[in-house]
Amino acid sequence: MNVGVLGCGVIAHRYVEGAVGFPSFDIVACADVDEQAGRAFAEKHKLPLEPVHTLIADPDIEVVLNLTPPAAHASLVAATLDAGKHAYTEKPLAISVDAGRALLTQANESSMRIGCAPDTFLGAAYEAARRAIERGDIGVPIGADATMLTGGPEGWHPNADFFYRQGGGPLLDIGPYYLAAMVALLGRVEAASGFASTPTLERVLETGPRAGERFGSEVPTHVAAALRFASGALGTLTVSFEARGRYESGLVVQGTEGALSLPDANGFGGDVQIRRAGGDWQSLHYDAQPELETRGLGLHEMIESVLAGRPHRASGELALHVLETMHAVLRSAEDGRTAVVA
Ligand SMILES: NC(=O)c1ccc[n+]([C@@H]2O[C@H](COP(=O)([O-])OP(=O)(O)OC[C@H]3O[C@@H](n4cnc5c(N)ncnc54)[C@H](O)[C@@H]3O)[C@@H](O)[C@H]2O)c1
Repeated sequence: MNVGVLGCGVIAHRYVEGAVGFPSFDIVACADVDEQAGRAFAEKHKLPLEPVHTLIADPDIEVVLNLTPPAAHASLVAATLDAGKHAYTEKPLAISVDAGRALLTQANESSMRIGCAPDTFLGAAYEAARRAIERGDIGVPIGADATMLTGGPEGWHPNADFFYRQGGGPLLDIGPYYLAAMVALLGRVEAASGFASTPTLERVLETGPRAGERFGSEVPTHVAAALRFASGALGTLTVSFEARGRYESGLVVQGTEGALSLPDANGFGGDVQIRRAGGDWQSLHYDAQPELETRGLGLHEMIESVLAGRPHRASGELALHVLETMHAVLRSAEDGRTAVVA
């Protein structure tokens, strides 16, 4: 299928460079509200640059890949569906649960697909873990504990302020990697409790043309959550933009007969470790597919699923469930009560 890219920023380079490995789609055009950013990107990747709404309406484009900041996701996905095209968007699906639900209703009514990042849980490492759980290698899963601690993106991202606006913060920005993986491994979340804080009130952009600009955070920058899955398993998730100079990612699935330790859910590949009963940790063998393990795997899987007439996995439904779970955590942090995920 022919794919048009909306939003020519940091992550768009990774998608366009990775696209060569995927036989199911070609990126054929790009668009950006910032003409300068669009022109530089179009020249670098030798792509035609189109105005945003021309690209969405372009009859040669069958799927719109939305790589804009979170605040633009819902309106651009809605416009894409309205134009009779499939949409694949970066996470989060939308800023609010209501906006996410409206998108799914629109997609169902128009028989168009919505796919949504992350897609790292589709990589060989997480798939190997999923098969190990299904085989019963760790017994019955009883829980999962995930941690992702960083100092925030202002040290390396030229527009890092959007990560601190509604739709951002460590929970809505990096939470989706861990929550999508946990849901893929353990099933749906039915209730959540959370605590959230904002220890650093003001940030400074450290790189790019806007370096030195100061901004405040609209969203909590340190969040700890407890989750109850519909299966009865229990989980924890701690995500932070307050761990200056650090990058710590962990996800361990506990079972009645052992445990699995998974690699960074914010990327592809890495070591999957398994520990059975009282034994030592050992690497779980799996065959990697490096040419397919890059951002774009979820889009590839969506297009192949459209062509085969089957449901796709990095789906709008999964992304909505992840969004509902994250908002349940934030709701609980505000009112001090466990929140039902619905
Ligand atoms: N940067 C990363 O490492 C990273 C990793 C994974 C996911 N993401 C996600 O990818 C998305 C984009 O992030 P980024 O880092 O590439 O941001 P970015 O700021 O580098 O790029 C976003 C681009 O979108 C453009 N844009 C904004 N509103 C638009 C609109 N209405 N129509 C068309 N273009 C518009 C901006 O002008 C900008 O060029 C976000 O949802 C982010 O969460 C980013």
